[in-house]
Amino acid sequence: MVNHKVNHKTIELINSLKSKEKIRVLFVCLGNICRSPAAEGVMKAVIDANNADDRFVVDSAGTGNYHVGDLPDRRMRVHGARRGYTFDHICRQVRSSDFDEFDIILPMDASNERNLHAMAPNPECERKIVPMAEFIDLASRYDHVPDPYYEGAEGFELVLDLLENGCRNLYNELRAHPPIYVKNREVNG
Ligand code: 4NP
Repeated sequence: MVNHKVNHKTIELINSLKSKEKIRVLFVCLGNICRSPAAEGVMKAVIDANNADDRFVVDSAGTGNYHVGDLPDRRMRVHGARRGYTFDHICRQVRSSDFDEFDIILPMDASNERNLHAMAPNPECERKIVPMAEFIDLASRYDHVPDPYYEGAEGFELVLDLLENGCRNLYNELRAHPPIYVKNREVNG
């Protein structure tokens, strides 16, 4: 039984993606060196563990441009490595073409969400923006993934706990009740 906070608009968006050959997922934070590259790495690991690599494209980007070209923050890489992840995304800023190229765009907090809405070229693109927190049910007091940049080790561990929970739920929502294909035609399943 899932009890995360996916709202009805998100369910509509997710249902509209079920028949796609590939689902394109973009995680967004401020710097693109802590939370969103970690989300990208954790989501790729979930997809890989489910042998579903051919069904997804996963990337991350930042609303800010302070660290463009950098690897993820060393602390994020160290904490990730302890759990078996390799976070090797090269930092990039969100660009307007992302709204065409991705199907679902997941900001880590309300500030990232506001920035994405301001950038979105049209309302259809805005419908792709879904707070990552909608998929997190690990600790109900978190309505966002907190920025660990100025925190200690526990901030990075918390980010990983929230993202492991959120990515698992996101994957399950995206893959639940997949459409049934008969002779290459989708039928009601
Ligand atoms: P992130 O964390 O948004 O999770 O990548 C941050 C990284 C860098 C900065 C802020 C947040 N910064 O101000 O440089």
